[in-house]
Amino acid sequence: MLIDIIAGARPNFIKIAPIIAAIEQKRDAGVDMHYRLVHTGQHYDKKMSGDFFEQLNIPAPHHNLEAGSGTQAEQTGKIMIGYEKLLLEKPCDLCIVVGDVTSTMACSIAAKKINNIKVAHVEGGIRSGDWTMPEEINRIVTDSITDYFFTTSNVANNNLKNIGVTNDRIFFVGNTMIDTLYKQMPRFRQPFFWEQYDLTEKGYMVMTLHRPNNVDNKEQLHELITEIVNASNGLPLIFPVHPRTAKMLEIAGVQAPNLHVIEPLGYLEFNYLVKYAKAVVTDSGGITEEATVMGIPCMTLRDSTERPETCTVGTNELLGTDPRSIAPAFKKLFAGEWKKGDIPKMWDGKTGERIATHIQQIFSL
Ligand code: UD1
Ligand code: UDP
Repeated sequence: MLIDIIAGARPNFIKIAPIIAAIEQKRDAGVDMHYRLVHTGQHYDKKMSGDFFEQLNIPAPHHNLEAGSGTQAEQTGKIMIGYEKLLLEKPCDLCIVVGDVTSTMACSIAAKKINNIKVAHVEGGIRSGDWTMPEEINRIVTDSITDYFFTTSNVANNNLKNIGVTNDRIFFVGNTMIDTLYKQMPRFRQPFFWEQYDLTEKGYMVMTLHRPNNVDNKEQLHELITEIVNASNGLPLIFPVHPRTAKMLEIAGVQAPNLHVIEPLGYLEFNYLVKYAKAVVTDSGGITEEATVMGIPCMTLRDSTERPETCTVGTNELLGTDPRSIAPAFKKLFAGEWKKGDIPKMWDGKTGERIATHIQQIFSL
């Protein structure tokens, strides 16, 4: 059996690593499971792509569709055309897509439209309810043509049941991003600037911003960062900047002695920083999950989340996108009143293995 594994953007690389490892293990044990790794090229900078393959020991992709950046339709179109061509040359038996990026949706459509190739969606069923986010459209479209759902939470299971997906297609397996976190934790690396910026355990914060609502508007970006700096009590703020944010940040022009704007970090350095931080301020999805598992206070600058368990169980709190919500949250943090949190069910580091075993059973391998 040939399984295509699709990855296109930074969070995808972290999610596919355990799936590949589990499939390789089955293959090496004699199970008829073989895979083809397809990189769509949605992210292409070394710091957004290549570094993750190196650090997480992900094998080089068999194919790179080199789709690159573009508008939503341009990028979707380029990925679909590239993947369809590959499938026409050599079809697969199952296409595994992960997460909610444009590559996820584009490849699921291309696969489904060619001979009804089976599609498995890892992280299926999550919903933010915010239709202004391209990711929500990607989730809804992908799930509407997915055959097998590998889910991270009971909320996701219920979302799927509510749209009529039958139980036999829903597999509650946990979170592959957390498999990677547990596996790599012993390898986390102190970043080179630790001493240069006078960082100490719980003596600094990490921030990331890349959602269009926060970073595509100069005034919004300026206000958010200014509020964070003002509320930070002078603690060093480490801000690894996503390429989408970098251009606008230059125009917004915020500077402060404790604000350290740096390039995107490698996975091992970034998560070292999160593990020892006083708190994380972010609009990322994956980072709220990692902060939850590491028990680090997390403030999310979004109005909604598709990962509600990071708030109901974990250490995450939604502050919204109004910059005025930042100061009260920091006050609570500095008063030592942030919630402690717990680890969501099934986020135990064994999700990749469960997925491979389910596939083996579904396809009677
Ligand atoms: C994408 C995902 C988002 C995810 C994020 C993870 C979609 C719709 N969005 O957002 O869900 O949270 O990735 O990081 O799929 N760019 C570079 N170098 C790169 C990649 C991008 O310079 O290697 C710049 C380009 O100017 C590009 C912009 O970043 O136009 C946005 O990239 P894109 O992949 O379209 O969306 P992201 O904002 O990265
Ligand atoms: N990450 C990283 N370096 C950074 C910022 C993030 O390695 O400088 C990792 C982070 O640990 C998580 C993933 O990238 O595993 C999250 O990706 P991102 O925030 O880009 O996307 P999202 O999860 O919001 O879709």
